[in-house]
Amino acid sequence: MRSIIVTQYGGPETLALRDVPVPEPGKGEALVRVVAAGINYADIMQRNGLYPGGPKPPFGAGFEASGVIEKVGPDLSGWKAGDAVVCFCESGYSDYVIAQGTHLLPKPPQLDYQQAAAIPCQYLTAYHALCTLGNLSEGQTVLLHAAAGGLGVMMLQIARNRGARVIGACGSDEKCAFIAELGCDHPVNYRKDDVVARVKHILGGARCDLVVETVGGDMVSQALRCLKPRGMVIALGAASKQPAMINTVELLANNWIVAGFHLFAYTEDTSAMMRAMQDLHQWLAEEKLVVLVNHALPIEDAGRAHEMVENRQTTGKVVLTTGYQP
Ligand SMILES: NC(=O)c1ccc[n+]([C@@H]2O[C@H](COP(=O)([O-])OP(=O)(O)OC[C@H]3O[C@@H](n4cnc5c(N)ncnc54)[C@H](OP(=O)(O)O)[C@@H]3O)[C@@H](O)[C@H]2O)c1
Repeated sequence: MRSIIVTQYGGPETLALRDVPVPEPGKGEALVRVVAAGINYADIMQRNGLYPGGPKPPFGAGFEASGVIEKVGPDLSGWKAGDAVVCFCESGYSDYVIAQGTHLLPKPPQLDYQQAAAIPCQYLTAYHALCTLGNLSEGQTVLLHAAAGGLGVMMLQIARNRGARVIGACGSDEKCAFIAELGCDHPVNYRKDDVVARVKHILGGARCDLVVETVGGDMVSQALRCLKPRGMVIALGAASKQPAMINTVELLANNWIVAGFHLFAYTEDTSAMMRAMQDLHQWLAEEKLVVLVNHALPIEDAGRAHEMVENRQTTGKVVLTTGYQP
């Protein structure tokens, strides 16, 4: 089978298409024939060697996929060959992946396989950051960074479904127009506008209840300045590849709460996961959540797909397709 391997840390040219054996599912595992593999910014950080605790080359790229169970291993109950699924896995950019039973979810029937590939990482991150950690509620205001990206588009819709007002910051006027179409109340181009001044103007001098910060660098101190006393900033990523220092005296003086977020601590929380999946199914049934796959490339173009994401040329979800059509 085909699999995209990160041969060494570096640019997109370090991704190589290799022919490798189809793996065998072990105890409690399933072999999934992949239809679509999700691309996430974490894949790019791993490829660059910048992901905390990330794998060392050579390693298979990608960690989420959608597809059909081909075979179940011993002691895996509740799943069978032919089930349509999404999963967390290793070496996601492959024709087949192995998923542990605890990392499988049924594919929502309202979504096609490409859309479903956005559920493991981007939907669950958006949900748990805003709802489980941020406790975003009706009437509150949230500022989202990279609001036109895969995660951003999910967060924007979930925030609206919770009755919150959304200020969406992103990197071009075209992206601002795109998120306005999706219901963003106040799009802001943070490469052109002063975000702190814009937030102040939009809120008539008030500030946000919650900020989800994914860019790092200078954007972190700007995020804090958009936050009301006792408001929370969730540090979720550093797409600029620049971590930021925070002045703790400023935190106490302003009563700001700074929270780190990493998805895998939340996927182990059974009751939080049940809430996330119940809300997903309800929002899909009520047509209150759309998954926008704006870029689907064949698996052999993984390097090109990484380049597009890294160069800020994408909006919504980016997937790789294997060509398999169940
Ligand atoms: N902690 C977690 O568990 C977790 C889980 C999922 C995602 N994340 C993080 O959430 C963020 C979004 O992830 P995603 O997969 O949905 O990616 P994405 O938002 O689709 O793509 C990344 C976006 O970051 C923005 N960006 C800002 N400065 C950038 C720079 N210097 N270089 C490249 N991009 C820059 C770009 O949007 P603009 O042009 O609009 O600025 C770009 O489109 C990433 O930081 C990711 O690491 C964290």
